[in-house]
Amino acid sequence: MREKRQLVAGNWKMNGLLEDGRALARDLGRLARENPPPCELLVCPPATLLFVVGEILAGSGVALGAQDCHAAPKGAHTGDVSAPMLADLGCRYVILGHSERRSYHGESNEAVREKMVAAWEAGLAAILCVGEREEERASRRAFAVVKSQIQGSIAQSAAAPRLVLAYEPVWAIGTGLVPSMADISEMHAAIRPLLPSATRILYGGSVNPKNAAEILALSEVDGALVGGASLNAADFMAIAGACR
Ligand code: PGA
Repeated sequence: MREKRQLVAGNWKMNGLLEDGRALARDLGRLARENPPPCELLVCPPATLLFVVGEILAGSGVALGAQDCHAAPKGAHTGDVSAPMLADLGCRYVILGHSERRSYHGESNEAVREKMVAAWEAGLAAILCVGEREEERASRRAFAVVKSQIQGSIAQSAAAPRLVLAYEPVWAIGTGLVPSMADISEMHAAIRPLLPSATRILYGGSVNPKNAAEILALSEVDGALVGGASLNAADFMAIAGACR
């Protein structure tokens, strides 16, 4: 279980104009070179910043990923970005099924599954996000919800190198709330048998430099998906530095 390298991924969401993106990427690249963290590092900027951030981070050891992709490789899909386009820019990962896309864009498990196939065909690894809402945890349905998201969203022929799972309780995203360490461990242990062997399971939701060491020390946690704290290079690198 322990031979997997932890992965710390930054989800910048819809943040950053060109100059912000350049500055953040430069800071990250510098910090990563000066003090390489004991984990794999990934940043997922908005689509508009992928090209510049990719150029700045080339050779720094920080990988590039995107936040979503379309299920088709090309065609009449105004406003969308395809997986081959992301791969062409140097992306290695794409986040799929984030709760913000599931709630604000009505993405179903089936839609996420189709995107996953497209990602794989383009050579990208998929970071599949799942997680329960507050009322689902309160009514003890958290595992059932997460299980059905996993079973509905993961495409056939899934294999560990091209699939990462991110458990992100919806109520913990951007709120400063974090489940207890026991609850995180329990959920990760419960979902592990549903995944191809050796799949990394990240925790996401209000990870910050203060709580990172405790979360990343859990034997069931193979890394973190970080939103808000990934917009500050020092905070993001402090989280990465807390990896086992
Ligand atoms: P947060 O976001 O770290 O700001 O809670 C996590 C995420 O949405 O991936």
